[in-house]
Amino acid sequence: MLNLKKKILDYFSEHGHEKSPEAETKLILFNAFRNKYQVLNKFSELFTEKSAVKFPLTPEIEEEAMRMAAERIKGIPLQHITGNQFFFEHDYSVNSHVLIPRPETEILISNIIDHIKKNWTNTPFRFAELGLGSGILSTEILFHFKKSIGIASEISSQAIAMARQNLDIIIGVGNWEDRFSIIEPGDTHIGFEVFEEYRPMDIIFSNPPYVSVNDEIENEVLRYEPHTALFPMIGAANEGEKENPNYFYENFLKHHHKILKPDGIAFFEIPHERADAIKHEFQNAGFSKIGIVDDLTGRPRLLIAQK
Ligand SMILES: C[S@@+](CC[C@H](N)C(=O)[O-])C[C@H]1O[C@@H](n2cnc3c(N)ncnc32)[C@H](O)[C@@H]1O
Repeated sequence: MLNLKKKILDYFSEHGHEKSPEAETKLILFNAFRNKYQVLNKFSELFTEKSAVKFPLTPEIEEEAMRMAAERIKGIPLQHITGNQFFFEHDYSVNSHVLIPRPETEILISNIIDHIKKNWTNTPFRFAELGLGSGILSTEILFHFKKSIGIASEISSQAIAMARQNLDIIIGVGNWEDRFSIIEPGDTHIGFEVFEEYRPMDIIFSNPPYVSVNDEIENEVLRYEPHTALFPMIGAANEGEKENPNYFYENFLKHHHKILKPDGIAFFEIPHERADAIKHEFQNAGFSKIGIVDDLTGRPRLLIAQK
């Protein structure tokens, strides 16, 4: 396996692929081996001394790994090639219809989970999420808290199909449908108002689309990730409507009194560029307890709001 690892690293270097080559090579190897040995479920299992005996390298694994490396140097995101991304405590299936789960979103989920553990570990609570995507956030909540009851909205039917697949694998078919529902709004302008017809929630969270056309965006992201996951009201923006990257935060502030209990709490991933402005909007809307949590690069990434 060490020879194959070197072969991929050399191949990346020859083709000028400089984006985390060591980490990406390990992920390619893990996925190529796992396609052959399904029992391999932990990354660490492959990179031990014993693994060469337990999981011998075969010509088809080598061919598969080199195929993945060849796709990768074309600029295709590694997660689209392997079809998965690990997030928080689980491996999630992903495709081009969902945002690839980001490491910084783990800050959002770990803060939500800490709050729930302190407040409702053994009691039922209700949650709502706008923008389900691959399902990472709601799935982790449903997995960790068996008494949780939730609802999520998602504009893309293909993303909903991916989220359902992840729920079926991680929570189990038949184990989530009676406590979690998914709504598909028909228009990208529809935001938190979809939750108004349900009982007010204890907790609302979202990693909404929040990118501005003026933000710096990597080419790979722009080319391969769904624009509905990046830019709010994408359909409208396409038709010349003025963009508003803060659209979903403002939409929440318009509707929160009908969808969040008076003692409820909201968690939002936010763009660091507009963190202060968003915080002020929440303060002006009457949220007196507002916390901002930084990501690992020291930039504001999470807003927590209570009245
Ligand atoms: C930034 S992604 C987040 C996905 C996932 N929750 C995560 O954290 O990886 C935002 C998601 O919101 C969805 N979305 C966009 N407009 C929406 C709307 N009006 N209502 C519901 N979902 C919407 C997108 O399709 C996308 O899946």
